[in-house]
This record gives sequence, structure tokens and C-alpha cells, in this order.
Amino acid sequence: MDRADDRVFYRNLKKSYPIVDRGEGVYIYDTQGKQYLDGSGGAAVVGIGHGVQEITEAMLRQARRISFSHGSQFTSQAAIDLASKLSKFSPDGLTRVYYLSGGSEAVETAVKLARQYHVERGKPEKYKVISRWTSYHGNTLGALALSGHTGRRRYYLPLLQHTPHIVPAYCYRCPFGITPENCSVECALDLEKTILYEGPESVSAFVAEPIVGATAGVLVPRNGYFQKIREICDRYDVLFISDEVMTGMGRTGKNFGIDHWNVTPDLIAVGKGLSSGYTPIYTLIVKEDIYQTIKEGSGSFVHGHTYGQNPLSCAVASAVMDYVQKHDLVTRSARMGEVLLQALQSLTRFDFVGDIRGKGLFAGIEFVKDRKTKEPFDPRLKMNGSIAGRAFGKGLITYPGGGGADGIRGDHLLLAPPLIITEEQITRLVSILDQTFAEISREI
Ligand SMILES: Cc1ncc(COP(=O)(O)O)c(C=O)c1O
Repeated sequence: MDRADDRVFYRNLKKSYPIVDRGEGVYIYDTQGKQYLDGSGGAAVVGIGHGVQEITEAMLRQARRISFSHGSQFTSQAAIDLASKLSKFSPDGLTRVYYLSGGSEAVETAVKLARQYHVERGKPEKYKVISRWTSYHGNTLGALALSGHTGRRRYYLPLLQHTPHIVPAYCYRCPFGITPENCSVECALDLEKTILYEGPESVSAFVAEPIVGATAGVLVPRNGYFQKIREICDRYDVLFISDEVMTGMGRTGKNFGIDHWNVTPDLIAVGKGLSSGYTPIYTLIVKEDIYQTIKEGSGSFVHGHTYGQNPLSCAVASAVMDYVQKHDLVTRSARMGEVLLQALQSLTRFDFVGDIRGKGLFAGIEFVKDRKTKEPFDPRLKMNGSIAGRAFGKGLITYPGGGGADGIRGDHLLLAPPLIITEEQITRLVSILDQTFAEISREI
């Protein structure tokens, strides 16, 4: 293939990307025939594995009938079926499904819906949305304003609306310097303080990833954190938006990440694993009460995107959900997640491995310059990128990230392999990481 005339505007303009050819199970192949173990499912997207025939057949069946109809003119059986499956899959009370095509879109839709809900119930002064530092909710301006990642925000800061952020639930780097024995989930109480400072009458919603993904490599909050968050939201009439774009659809070993704590959010944004990468589709799953408020009020949510609710994407996601359930992949994620976490422990033999954490097949490795002080590497070293680059060269795909420690410093790798991964494949994954870390450790 001639690459001299390649006009694609890539993410990294200085990098040369291999050309992808095909995918099969947990593997991706490039056009040179090189095999890669997809250790991160792209960016925590691929759940059921690549190249599943049942999905392409469902895609074809729907495409033969109709691929696109506009949401303002038609519904489709595919949209109706998927909404029904999703509402059964969701925590009790979350019954309505709004269709979208991207994660940033889903988060911003949640923010707009929360706002309209408050207006329709006679509380037009409620508009502020509180989020957390060390979080990621998307790259569009509204979602980026909520995201708490300095590195991703700083170029665009003048364009971002100023919104309040609270501290993250980051036990390895506790923002209060508290040890687990003395912890009273102070990081959750920070929400209450912030609501009070901002004025509860002005606060519309709180948004959080139940388990932080991209910005810090799997931050699992301690038990009690989200129960406290729910209590505080209820006390001040603030909606709780669970951003499950990465953690939904079984990724963490439960249907949704928030299910680990039996907490019911008001709105759930979900995507990625919803279609396992077979098509771009995201949804916002909505509590019945919010839906009814709008229905009995103005009767319409003043919102909508062209490709939301397109029958083709709905049919594909529906087939993916069937596959997840038929193969019990949520339970499998919990079980294989334990195998992965256990296997990763061997990597603590490298001094620069600071922390290894995970829930289901969602795991993170944080790197530090000094294990005792937890001092991060100089970000100019681009440790996370060079570790991931080296693993990629050896045929293992991981999802690197930085800035977890303070927005700029901090390095981690995110692992989120397809939920179908086997024990042997996990052993291979860890062995490639081991070889990679051994090389890095010789160099630092
Ligand atoms: C938790 C979370 N929310 C939102 C997004 C944004 O999704 P998208 O890239 O589809 O806009 C992401 C993307 O990784 C995410 O991890």
C-alpha cells in the first residue's frame, strides 16, 4: 500500500501507525501479518472479541432492510429491542434509553437532561455540574470542562466553562494523606462541602466514573464511597450521573461499575462495550421519574443528534448484548479479572511498579520513580508512552496514560482485554509485560 499519499490527520502526527488488516478473538493483525494481543480492547472498547460472525450477520440482516432512519421521523424494532434489553440489564428504576453516537455526547446529554429536568420541576436556578479531578468524561468542550485532567485541558482552558471539581477517590495517592484504617471517605465528603460552597440551590448534578479509567489507570474507590455520594446527592436534590462509558457492559465484572456498591444512579452514560467496537453507539439510561417529569411537562427533551437511534447501530449493539448474555461474559470478566490481577502481581518485582489495581478485566499499573515516596517520573521522559510502545513492538496492545498524580505527572498502563480472554492468553500478556519491564528497568 502506498503511504506517500496518506492524507489522514492522525492523533499523533509524528508516529507511523501500522495498517490494521483484521481481527480475530483477542488478536489484531496488521497488513504485514504481525499479530497483536489486544490487551486493552483498543481503549476499553472490545468486550466480545474481534471478528464475531454472529455480529456481522446481524449487521448485514439489518443493513439489508434499512440502515438509517431519522429519530424525529421513525422508531425501529432494533431500537425498541435494544432499549428493552438495556433497561433489564440496568439497576432497578433506570428504564428509558436515549440513543447517541459518542461518549462525550452521552455525558453532555446527561448534563442537559439534568438541567431540563430541574427546570421542568420548577427549579430553574439549578444548573451547576460538579465533577472530580483525575477524571475523564470526553474531549468535546462541555465534557472536557467536566474532565479533571490538566494535560488534556490546558490548551483549551479559555474555551472551557468553569465548573467545580472535587478531589478524586484515589487511595494510592489519598488527597488527604489518610491511611485506609483511618479513612472516613473524606473524598466523598468533599462533595458535600463543594455543594454547600456553591449553594445547593444552584447544583444540578454530580458526574463520576465509578472506577476511573483513562486518566489514572483504574481507581477503585473504597466501600462506602458511592453510598456516601448517593446520600449527599439525595440530601441536596442533586442528580448522580454515573459515567460508565468504560466500566459498563460487564467490563468490571458486574453489569455496571456502580453495581459493585449497590448504588442506583439517576443517569448512566454507557458505550464502548455496548457494541464492542462493531459500530459507534452510546446510550444514556434514564430513571423513570426523570423521563416522566419531562413527559408530563413540556413533553420533549430539547436535544438530539442525527445518528442517534439509527437502526443499524441498534441492531448491532443488540446482537452484542445477546452474545454477552449467551456466553455469560459478565461473570467471566469477574473470574478472569481475578486471574489477571493475580498474574500481574509478579510485576511488583520491578521497582518502578508502584501500584497494581483492578476490578474484573479492568486493570491498571501505576509507575513511580521511587516506590517509597511514590514520586512520579519526570513527564518529559514520557514513561507511559515508551513502555506501551515497547510492548506494542512485542505484539501487546495496552492503553497508556499520564497525569494521574497531579494532572501532568504520573504514568500508568490501562489493561482491558476482551472479556473472552483465556488463562493462557493472560499468561502471555503478563509475560510480554515482564519482558518489556525488564528492558525498561535496565535502562533507568
Ligand atoms: C469515562 C469516559 N467518559 C467519556 C468518554 C468519551 O467518550 P468518546 O471518546 O466516545 O467521546 C470516555 C472515553 O474514553 C471515557 O472513558
